[in-house]
Amino acid sequence: MTAKAGFIGTGRMASAMIRGAISSGALAPEDIIASNVHADSRERAARELGIRVVEDPREVASEADVVFLAVKPGQIPEVFSGGDLGLGPSKILVSIAAGVTTDSLRSYVPDAKILRVMPNICSTVSASATGFCRSEGMTDEDVAKARVVLDAVGLCFEFREKDMDAVSSIVGCAPAFMFMAIDAIADGGVRMGLPRDKSIMLAAQAMLGSAKTVLESGQHPAVLKDGVCSPGGSTIEGVEVLEAYSFRSALAEAVKACTERNRELGS
Ligand SMILES: NC(=O)c1ccc[n+]([C@@H]2O[C@H](COP(=O)([O-])OP(=O)(O)OC[C@H]3O[C@@H](n4cnc5c(N)ncnc54)[C@H](OP(=O)(O)O)[C@@H]3O)[C@@H](O)[C@H]2O)c1
Repeated sequence: MTAKAGFIGTGRMASAMIRGAISSGALAPEDIIASNVHADSRERAARELGIRVVEDPREVASEADVVFLAVKPGQIPEVFSGGDLGLGPSKILVSIAAGVTTDSLRSYVPDAKILRVMPNICSTVSASATGFCRSEGMTDEDVAKARVVLDAVGLCFEFREKDMDAVSSIVGCAPAFMFMAIDAIADGGVRMGLPRDKSIMLAAQAMLGSAKTVLESGQHPAVLKDGVCSPGGSTIEGVEVLEAYSFRSALAEAVKACTERNRELGS
């Protein structure tokens, strides 16, 4: 990459994205600079990620062309308490802060281009589902600079800003639903006499394989489900049980609840 990437904050999401970008080969450790206000966190991030970690976010803003803002939403005012960090018009601020709009970020960085991004923790294994929206005036070339990291850590799609709360509910929250599903299916296996560890691995691999099939075949998931249900077979029996327990509407309602909560948190 021609541009260096910077991260303000070295917590769970920043670390996941840095690990994903390095392990996919998109960035070398020396292409990355990060900052953290706490000395022990700086020392840990430098040791675990193999990158340079400094105290002053201005150093990150000055060295990196693309700067990821990876602190909690409530920590953003502290990051900018000393001013706009010197992020000029040639710089791109990529905020991953949930619920924080490009308009509210504009007050901190009047000149920089802003990309609002929602990645997820699966970035660590380069399997994030990521949604983003761009601030006014950003060109495709600007967006491409940030996508070097975003594409390296998973699948990435652009949305309108007004859709970002719904995007966040799938990207940020749905992994918890998927972990619950794996755990529950594994419980079912244990109930039927399978060892716990193998039952979890089989359930996780069934989910991974199903997701890959949806993404790679381009077929509608309902068509793929029908393909697994042979007439009079065992799968349709299980599908009937899931319908009786409102499995599909429970998941859709969960996405709605998360979106509404994201809206509340953002307002
Ligand atoms: N976790 C997720 O699954 C997820 C998914 C999508 C988006 N996000 C978004 O990602 C952002 C970070 O979340 P997270 O889960 O990674 O939180 P986190 O683990 O708490 O990370 C926050 C990081 O910011 C550091 N920090 C705090 N104040 C700072 C300051 N003034 N200057 C520089 N660094 C500072 C913290 O340092 P210490 O560790 O020393 O306190 C920590 O390294 C949030 O805005 C969240 O909405 C998270």
